[in-house]
Amino acid sequence: MRAMLSLAILVTAAGCAATSATCGHEPVSAHNQPESTALPTDAFRRHHAEIIEHLDHIDAMAVALRGQSPEEQRRTMRRAVTFLKEHIAAHAADEERVLYPVVQRESGPGSQLTAVPIYEHRIIERLIATLDKEASQPTPDAAAFSLTAHHLTGLLLGHFEIEERVLLPVLDKTMTPEQFQREVADKMPH
Ligand SMILES: [Fe+2]
Ligand SMILES: [Fe+2]
Repeated sequence: MRAMLSLAILVTAAGCAATSATCGHEPVSAHNQPESTALPTDAFRRHHAEIIEHLDHIDAMAVALRGQSPEEQRRTMRRAVTFLKEHIAAHAADEERVLYPVVQRESGPGSQLTAVPIYEHRIIERLIATLDKEASQPTPDAAAFSLTAHHLTGLLLGHFEIEERVLLPVLDKTMTPEQFQREVADKMPH
């Protein structure tokens, strides 16, 4: 997480794909934020905000597919799927490996706090696999891809909100910023 998103894929509101240097929607980077934060989990929350900004780009891509040639559609779909696999799926894996066990530990014996978010990760993976399969078809269905992409971004927004409003407050109450950095943030590359 320390490195934040080193995105090669960004999409403008008009739906074109571009590098971060040309997108015009430069994400907020944690490196630009002050070191001292109000909450121990602030760096994690900023990372979520950065990902959410890119989810807006995924939505814009899904809308733009309608006006694109089949060749452009295939390129756009592949860019969206690459982003989702490299950043969303990887982020979820890091959470299950690092963040969620710490939330379980800090929320006490018998806590089931991470059971639902873990199941949501499985749904997220399924939707990414559906998009990947569609983008790999010789003649992909752009309308079906768009619909699934919108479903996925909606689910992700809700999922992130649950993590920020239900899981992270547990750590804000029980950990110091230094502990959170050492035990969670430093161990999460995505
Ligand atoms: Fe998650
Ligand atoms: Fe997350």
